[in-house]
Amino acid sequence: MIQATLAIIKPDATKRNIVGQILRRAEDQDLAVVAIKRLHLTKKQAAGFYSVHRNKSFFDDLTDFMSEGPIVVVVLRGEGSIRKWRDLMGATDPVKASPGTIRALFGESIERNSTHGSDSPESACFEIGYFFSGLDLVK
Ligand code: CDP
Ligand code: MG
Repeated sequence: MIQATLAIIKPDATKRNIVGQILRRAEDQDLAVVAIKRLHLTKKQAAGFYSVHRNKSFFDDLTDFMSEGPIVVVVLRGEGSIRKWRDLMGATDPVKASPGTIRALFGESIERNSTHGSDSPESACFEIGYFFSGLDLVK
């Protein structure tokens, strides 16, 4: 099924100028960039995005991290994009991520793990809508 997912290049990665290297991995797997922008979130905006995690112990650190510098938000469209992008990223903790995955290659820690990807069609819908309007998605 052709679907869309939200990917984020996190502040640890934008700081190291590896946006292109990361997005190339998506494009190499036939995921198309149909919307993209760079922005610097406030802590409140980061908290709104990650509100499902508001009761987790890591929430305060996570929202500090996500607002410490620029991010690049991207809508990736293609066959099974939600699963495919999560497989390309690898496990949340770079130490546990399979060799060759983005987080294994570039992640600095379980928090500073370089990328985000939606985990379900429902979260993709919320997350894409958090950053983009329908008119921004150009197929
Ligand atoms: O990003 P992913 O869906 O793999 O993981 P998550 O469980 O939805 O957590 C969201 C983000 O919170 C992670 O990507 C990490 O940046 C951060 N996190 C953390 O700092 N410490 C944890 N124990 C778990 C997640
Ligand atoms: Mg998640």
